[in-house]
Amino acid sequence: MNIQPAPRNYQATPELLSGKTVLVTGAGDGIGRVAALTYAAHGATVVLLGRTESKLEAVYDEIEVAGHPKPGLVTMDLSQVTDDQCVQLAQGLAEEFGHLDGLLHNASLLGERRPIESSSYAVWQEVMQVNVNAQFVLTRRLLPMLQTAPSSSIILTSSGVGRIGKAFWGAYCVSKFATEGFMQVLASELENTSSIRVNCINPGGTNTAMRRTAFPAENPTDNPAPEDIMGVYLYLMGEDSIGSTGISFNAQ
Ligand SMILES: NC(=O)c1ccc[n+]([C@@H]2O[C@H](COP(=O)([O-])OP(=O)(O)OC[C@H]3O[C@@H](n4cnc5c(N)ncnc54)[C@H](OP(=O)(O)O)[C@@H]3O)[C@@H](O)[C@H]2O)c1
Repeated sequence: MNIQPAPRNYQATPELLSGKTVLVTGAGDGIGRVAALTYAAHGATVVLLGRTESKLEAVYDEIEVAGHPKPGLVTMDLSQVTDDQCVQLAQGLAEEFGHLDGLLHNASLLGERRPIESSSYAVWQEVMQVNVNAQFVLTRRLLPMLQTAPSSSIILTSSGVGRIGKAFWGAYCVSKFATEGFMQVLASELENTSSIRVNCINPGGTNTAMRRTAFPAENPTDNPAPEDIMGVYLYLMGEDSIGSTGISFNAQ
C-alpha cells in the first residue's frame, strides 16, 4: 500500500477548480459538507448528493449566498441506489453540466461498534451497500463522463481502520479495506489508458457527527474541524495532483 502524508503547506489558488464540475457524496453534513463548500469557493460547480434533502438545500443556499457557481442537488439514498438510478444520474449530469471532472466518494455509515459474533447481518449489509457497493455502481456509471474530461479525479474516503483491522469496528472496518482495494484496482486499470487519477484520503479523527458517535467519551474539539483538513481534498481534486494516482493520503 502506498501511503503518503498530505502535501505540506499546500496552498490552493482561489481559482483552482474554476470551470470544473465536481460531485460530492454525503454533501449535507460533516466532511462532505465542508468539502462541497470548499470546492465551490475555489470555483467548482458542485453537485451535492446525499439522502437528507433539507441538509443539501442548506448547503446549496450557503453556496448561492456566497456567490459561488450555482450547484446541483441530487437527493439519493445510497442504501437503496440501483444501477438504473446511476444511469439516469449520469444522463442528467451530462444534460445539465456537460462534463464531470471530479468525484468525491465521502458518504459512509458507521454501523455498529460491536463484536463480529453479535453483529447484525442487516446492519452489515447496509454498511457494505453504502460504503462499498454504492461507490462501485456510481463510479461505474460516471466513468464515461470522467474519461472525456481532459483530466479528472476520483477521491475515495478511507480510514485508519481501513489499513489495520481493529476489534469492534466490524463492517465499517471491512468496508474501508474494500475502499482501499477498490481504489488500487481502479487506479491500476486507468493508470496508462486514461487521464483519471484515483486516490484515497484517510481524514483522521475529525470533529463530525460520525466521530462523536464512534468516540462518545472524547472531547469533540480535541479533533480538528473538517475545515482544517481541506488541503489534501483541494490538492487531489485540482490539477496540481496530476500524476498522483493509486495513493492513500493521510489528511493529518
Ligand atoms: N470524522 C472522522 O473522524 C472520520 C475518520 C476517518 C474516516 N472518516 C470518513 O470520512 C467520511 C465522512 O465522514 P463524516 O465524519 O463527515 O461523517 P458524517 O458526519 O456522519 O457524514 C456522513 C455523510 O454521509 C451521508 N450518508 C450516510 N448514509 C448515506 C446514504 N445511505 N445515502 C446518502 N448519503 C449518506 C450522511 O447523510 P445524512 O447527513 O443525511 O446522515 C452525511 O452527510 C466518511 O467516509 C467516513 O467514513 C471520518
